[in-house]
Amino acid sequence: MVRVTEVARTKAELATALASLEGTSALVMTMGALHEGHLALVRAAREAADNVVVSIFVNPLQFGPDEDYEEYPRDLAADLALLGTVGVEAVYAPEAAEVYPREPLVRIDPGPVAALLEGKTRPTHFAGVLQVVHKVLNLVRPDMAFFGQKDAQQLALVRTMVADLDMPVEIRAVPIERDVDGLALSSRNSYLSATQRIEALALSQALVLGKDAAAHGLPAAGVREVALRYLAEAPGVRLDYLALVDPQTFQEIGPDEGAAPAVRSALLAVAAWVGPTRLIDNMEIELHG
Ligand code: PAF
Repeated sequence: MVRVTEVARTKAELATALASLEGTSALVMTMGALHEGHLALVRAAREAADNVVVSIFVNPLQFGPDEDYEEYPRDLAADLALLGTVGVEAVYAPEAAEVYPREPLVRIDPGPVAALLEGKTRPTHFAGVLQVVHKVLNLVRPDMAFFGQKDAQQLALVRTMVADLDMPVEIRAVPIERDVDGLALSSRNSYLSATQRIEALALSQALVLGKDAAAHGLPAAGVREVALRYLAEAPGVRLDYLALVDPQTFQEIGPDEGAAPAVRSALLAVAAWVGPTRLIDNMEIELHG
């Protein structure tokens, strides 16, 4: 178990901690406020590598000016206690001034996929995500890094960055963790009141309805329609987007894709505000015919 005093707060401390590790290593990057979803990533990393390194850093670059950077929950002691239940070899929890001693001049351009879906509402988000992922991958130099499928667009963009910049790391995906009632686990769920938490279930329920509709043979437009109608009537939910997209390109699946295979995988993705809290969720679905 890692105690608070053993947490690396600086690059130098991280380098010392890493130097004592032998064998393969896996990185799990987080912004803290850890929950079972993060632990699923840590467990997957634990299975795959000799050493697990976890980073905890609320990255200012990925928050827009009106977003929740200041309010984002921070509780390092609680995070370390949770990590202790799984066991990790090193934790890197720097302050913002350590990560960004000055405004970075060289930036990662995440490319066109970053302008779609999440990027429409959060135009600078993925540039900020890739900036910090690139930096932490460079510092830790793990054999593999684990990312959750809940942030499907982030995962795809990290994979693209690693491929396009020849970064020597294997990116592995871990499925979404859900509460028993279907709500996708998120650190931002802690913002929800009891009523809002119930209202938030509409997101995963809409995705399940869409998935069922696809399983019953409805085409893309029908799947979207079923999920959209459900969300339109859901109390307390203000929709940002519901999109049925190609899981690689994040382009909307059109109504008339004649040359498409008989069964094709798609991603049904949703973002919505429940009260002031913006939540996202997604589900892989199969479209028939
Ligand atoms: O998914 C997150 O929590 C963040 O975007 C990440 C990958 C830790 C980068 O700050």
